[in-house]
Amino acid sequence: MKRNFLILLLLVGGFTLTVAQQKAEIVINTDKGEYQISKHVYGHFSEHLGRCIYGGLWVGEDSHIPNINGVRKDIIDALKHIKIPNLRWPGGCFADEYHWMDGIGPRDQRAKMVNTHWGGVVEDNSFGTHEFLDLCEVLETEPYICGNMGSGSVEEMSKWVEYITSDNESPMTNLRKENGREKPWKVRFWGVGNENWGCGGNMTAEGYAENYRRYATYCRNYGDNRLYKIAGGPNSGDTHWMTVMMKNIPHGLMRGVSVHNYTVTNHWGDKGNATGFTEDDYFSLLYNGFNMDSLITRHSKIMDTYDPRKRIAMVFDEWGAWYNVEPGTNPGFLYQQNSLRDAILAGTILNIFHKHADRVKIANIAQLVNVLQALILTEGDKMLLTPTYHIFDMYKVHHDATMLPIELNTPLYSNKGRSMDAISASASRDKDGKIHVSLVNLDPNNSIEVNCDLKGLDSKAKFVSANIVTADKIDSHNTFDNPNTVELKEFKDASLKNQKLQVKMPAKSVVTVEIL
Ligand code: AHR
Repeated sequence: MKRNFLILLLLVGGFTLTVAQQKAEIVINTDKGEYQISKHVYGHFSEHLGRCIYGGLWVGEDSHIPNINGVRKDIIDALKHIKIPNLRWPGGCFADEYHWMDGIGPRDQRAKMVNTHWGGVVEDNSFGTHEFLDLCEVLETEPYICGNMGSGSVEEMSKWVEYITSDNESPMTNLRKENGREKPWKVRFWGVGNENWGCGGNMTAEGYAENYRRYATYCRNYGDNRLYKIAGGPNSGDTHWMTVMMKNIPHGLMRGVSVHNYTVTNHWGDKGNATGFTEDDYFSLLYNGFNMDSLITRHSKIMDTYDPRKRIAMVFDEWGAWYNVEPGTNPGFLYQQNSLRDAILAGTILNIFHKHADRVKIANIAQLVNVLQALILTEGDKMLLTPTYHIFDMYKVHHDATMLPIELNTPLYSNKGRSMDAISASASRDKDGKIHVSLVNLDPNNSIEVNCDLKGLDSKAKFVSANIVTADKIDSHNTFDNPNTVELKEFKDASLKNQKLQVKMPAKSVVTVEIL
C-alpha cells in the first residue's frame, strides 16, 4: 500500500515536472551596440553543381517557364523578396576547373565540357559570365566571383577581372563589347580560389599563401571598381591554415579570409537524412550546428592577433546542413529535402553570425537552389520555398542593423548525456530605430517562456508585430503537392509591458519580434 502510494507520488511529481513552464531570461542592451550586422552575412551561393544552375535557376530564354533573360521568374521574385545581398558563383570545387572564356560569346558556339567534379554531366557553358552578371543586376545583388587558382593561370584570372570591370581600351574590353556588353560591370567580391587545401589544388597553407600573393597582385582595380579580395581559407577548424593566411599574406592584398564549415548529423561517414530522422538525429545535428560559435571564436582569436583593428573579414562563404542525397537521385548532385530542423539550424547559425558581427562580414549558405541546404527546390515548372527560405525572409530585418549585446540565461535541451542551450537569441536596432529580437527554441518537446529585459528602451516604445516558423513535426517539410506545410506566420504570443518583452516560444520554433 505504502509502496503504491510512493509510486503514485513519483508519477504525479514527475508529471508536474515535465509540464512545468520552462523559462529563459534575456537582458538586451537596446541603447548599446558597436558593430553592424553586415547584410552580406545573408549571402547565397550558386555553383555549377547538380540542378542549382541548369534545371534550377537557368531554364533558357526559349523555355515555356516564365523567365527573365533565361532565369526563372518565380525564383527571381522570391529572391528579390528576401533582398539577397550577394551571390557567389561559379563554385565551389567547380570554380577551380572553370575556364571563363568557355562561357562567353554566342551560346551555340560555346565549348562543351564534362563537369568532372559533380556528377560527370555535360556542361554546355550556356550560363556564363554575362548571364551571371546580368542576373545579379536584375536581382540588385552584388556578385561574388570565385576565380580559378587550382587549374587556371595568373593571366586567366587577371584577364577575367579586366574583361568584367575595365573601361580601358584593351583586347579584353573589346571582346566584352563584341559580346554585347558596352559598359563594365561592378564587381567587388573576388575569391582567389576555393578550398585550395582540397579540391582547389591540394596545396599546403604556405604554398597557397605564396600563390595568392601572385594571383591577387594581378587582379587589378580598374576605374572606380575596388576589388574586395578574399583568400581561400581553412577547412573548418584548421587554425594552422588561418594563421598562415594572416601571417604570410600582406594585408594590403586581401580584405577577407574564407572559412567553410558544413553541419552533418553525426560525422562525415554518417551524414544522416534530411527527413524521416529520429529525435536523437535532430539533437545531434543542432548540437553540431552550435560548434560554429566556438569555431568562429578560435579563428577570431588568430585574426585578432594579426589584425587587431579588424580590417580583414572572416568570410563564411560555405555553410549549411549536408545530408545523404534523396534516394534515387545522382549522388554527385547533392539534392536534399529541407525540414523544420533546417529552419532551426539556420536561425541558430544566423544568431551566431550576429554575435560575431565584429569579424564575420560575409557568409553564403550552400546552396541557393536544389543543392544542400537550399532555399528553393524545383521540379519541372514547379517551385517551392523551403523552411530555410522563410528564416532568411524573417531575418532580413537584421540586414545592416546594429547588433545589440545580450546576456542570455536559458534552460538546456539534453539528450543522452549531452546538453545544449535550448534558446538561441540575437537582437539588433535598424536605421529607423526599430528593434528586432530573434529567438530560436531548439527544444522539440517543451515550450519556453522567454522574458527579455530591454534595458535603455524608450518608455514610449511599442510592440509592433511578431512572426514565427514552426510545424507539427521535427521533420515537417514542404513538397510540390503541399508547398506550404512550413511557412512564415503571424505570431500572437508576444507582449511588451514596461520595457519587458515576453515571448511564449512554442517547442521547435523560430520567432522574430519587432518593437518601435
Ligand atoms: O557546396 C558543395 C561543395 O562543398 C563545394 O563545391 C566545395 O567548395 C565544398 O566542399
